[in-house]
Amino acid sequence: MNSKVLKGGKVVDVVSEKIFEADIKIEDGKIAEIGQNLTAEETIDCKGMLVSPGLIDLHVHLREPGFEHKETIETGVRAAAAGGFTRIYAMPNTEPPCDNEASAIYIRQQADRLGLIRVEPVGSISQGRKGEFLAEMGGLARAGVKMVTDDGNPVSSASLMLLALKYSKAFGMLVADHCEDKSISANGICNEGYFSTLYGLQAWPKSAEETIVSRDIILAGETDSRIHIMHISTKFSAQLIAQAKSMGIKATCEVTPHHLTLTDELIGDYNTNWKVNPPLRSKEDVEALRKALSDGIIDCIATDHAPHAREDKEVEINIAPPGISGLETAVGQLFTELVNKGVITPEKLLSRMTVGPASIIGLETPEIKAGKPADITIIDPNSKWTVEPKKFFSLGHNTPLAGKIMTGKVHATICCGKVVYLDGQIQKGM
Ligand code: DOR
Ligand code: ZN
Repeated sequence: MNSKVLKGGKVVDVVSEKIFEADIKIEDGKIAEIGQNLTAEETIDCKGMLVSPGLIDLHVHLREPGFEHKETIETGVRAAAAGGFTRIYAMPNTEPPCDNEASAIYIRQQADRLGLIRVEPVGSISQGRKGEFLAEMGGLARAGVKMVTDDGNPVSSASLMLLALKYSKAFGMLVADHCEDKSISANGICNEGYFSTLYGLQAWPKSAEETIVSRDIILAGETDSRIHIMHISTKFSAQLIAQAKSMGIKATCEVTPHHLTLTDELIGDYNTNWKVNPPLRSKEDVEALRKALSDGIIDCIATDHAPHAREDKEVEINIAPPGISGLETAVGQLFTELVNKGVITPEKLLSRMTVGPASIIGLETPEIKAGKPADITIIDPNSKWTVEPKKFFSLGHNTPLAGKIMTGKVHATICCGKVVYLDGQIQKGM
């Protein structure tokens, strides 16, 4: 592999949350040197750009096998590379679900064939995601699975969740929790409140999330197991997790770009692309989530990239599937709404997209340092662009952000020292 230099960029130290100017030399898939006036066979001009460790997304729906009309492993991986992600975790709500060793191996092999970024399969908690019996945790662990979840569905049975926490601990895996009491959310569409009443939309009350967050924190505490709460959407969920952390319970959590930047009133145009699970919440919740992210109560940002086909979404809002195609808009949306408006510094935001997820899943701390793997994301914080879903690499064009002008764009994604995405183009696989 040839050597390359990333020239004159603003290197983001995501551990100390500082930025400094330097060249980075990459050789043999690793960071070889950091310094001034470095030279190599190939140069990427990074002037004015942020050079960060590669972004990690713990929550991505790739849909294959079973729903290839929504996304395939290949299209999802290309979308992730274009979104600046060098490592993603593929959710198990496929058909068949990833509830055994062979399914997990299949996903890993299909992704590895592409030679673009790192893809890790996530196993399901229950067999067939039916919420009845525990999946084959031992087999999943043998396939290298580090996280299990029934995402899309909650684990309604507290006793099954208790068992999952005990087994996952024994196998060194993490339980990731989709918190929703379906007897309360009952196919709701809109946050319960003024706007659900105004628009006449079935309500999805906050308590449907918060009751399960509290239940599972209690169960994790009792079993001394780790629990990761996915896509939290309310102020009280963040407070519950803060309380759990202060008590020494091993709870972590994530928030999506949409729950950090969009509110419940937007669904008033009945566009099904606003429909997501959990639903968009109130301004007060969004503000509390931003603060919790900044304070470290929320450990990381995860996209919950949920691609759906046009024919799935172009139906009445009551029957449309929930989800937003998020990989290719995450950086743009977060820079536009948070960094450029002074809500969070770029170094802290990028820390929550690198160090945060890595520490949850037990990876080495991502750092731009000599000897570390060259997984790097280059972001132009000033580049303006318009969201055009037709140009997505993802098959899921279901974004409510279509037509929005963003400031902040992924310029390049480098994985294992290889440029996999550059200036709008996916580079050929290895
Ligand atoms: O909006 C969502 N879509 N939330 C989930 O939990 C599942 C996901 C999907 O699979 O489409
Ligand atoms: Zn979910």
